[in-house]
Amino acid sequence: MQGSVVYNLVFAAAVCVVCAVFVSSSAVALRERQEYNAAIDKQRNVLAVSGMVGDDEELAPEEVETRFAGIEQIVIDLETGEEVSEIEPSTFDQRRASRDPATSTAAPPNAAQVIRLPDQALVYKVRDAQGRPSLHVLPVEGLGLWGTLYGFIALDGALETVQALTFYEHIETPGLGGEVDNPRWKALWRGRRPFDDDFKPNLTVIKGRAGPPSEDPHRVDGLSGATMTSRGVTNLLQFWLGDDGFGPYLNRLRQERTDG
Ligand SMILES: Cc1cc2nc3c(=O)[nH]c(=O)nc-3n(C[C@H](O)[C@H](O)[C@H](O)COP(=O)(O)O)c2cc1C
Repeated sequence: MQGSVVYNLVFAAAVCVVCAVFVSSSAVALRERQEYNAAIDKQRNVLAVSGMVGDDEELAPEEVETRFAGIEQIVIDLETGEEVSEIEPSTFDQRRASRDPATSTAAPPNAAQVIRLPDQALVYKVRDAQGRPSLHVLPVEGLGLWGTLYGFIALDGALETVQALTFYEHIETPGLGGEVDNPRWKALWRGRRPFDDDFKPNLTVIKGRAGPPSEDPHRVDGLSGATMTSRGVTNLLQFWLGDDGFGPYLNRLRQERTDG
């Protein structure tokens, strides 16, 4: 009797050890692959907002890498807007940086509910055949109804119009706030004007319908039944395009453009 209890305990312990070894070794073995897949996914999203991959286009990881090679990645100092050459962009993780107290600061109170600001941020640039910037891609994030939406906004080289807005991670309700992913809603952003005449951010997701960009350049249709998510999108764009977000960097870009 006692022998069978001991046997059962030893057997259970052995099964636990074998499983633990199996789970932890798979986690270690797969980590590199997971990191690679995450990097490819991010590159695919940057390509999508840059218009360099279609919404339904399936790309192999190698093709993503090839196309992404045409996009410049730049680490900037968020406060001054200057480029930071000491940090390698391909390994810089802005989201991790904003969680680490050593590489971030508390954000001023803001409607987007951004809690911490990374000292550095990762932005992207596409150049035309003459080498002039034709597209700027900026990461944006902020609170929706259920959680943080993470995405990218693409602005034309002169920073005069939105080229695209896309969210690659959120937990809004499918069919309500989740309609941020609807290609028809996303298409409404193209051609809107992100700033007013004083370069202050000026984009609002309204309740109801907005006109076309030529007549209603600063407003976009609300997501029906999802006022909170719509407001979240407005708030996060106002924040990241403003002084506490990418304002200093955007001012530098404008200056560079006027300096020729
Ligand atoms: C199950 C459930 C899921 C919801 N998901 C969202 C959502 O993702 N985004 C959102 O803004 N509102 C969502 N709402 C609605 C909000 O609770 C709120 O009523 C809405 O934002 C008000 O928008 P309206 O004025 O357009 O109706 C959800 C409601 C329910 C019951």
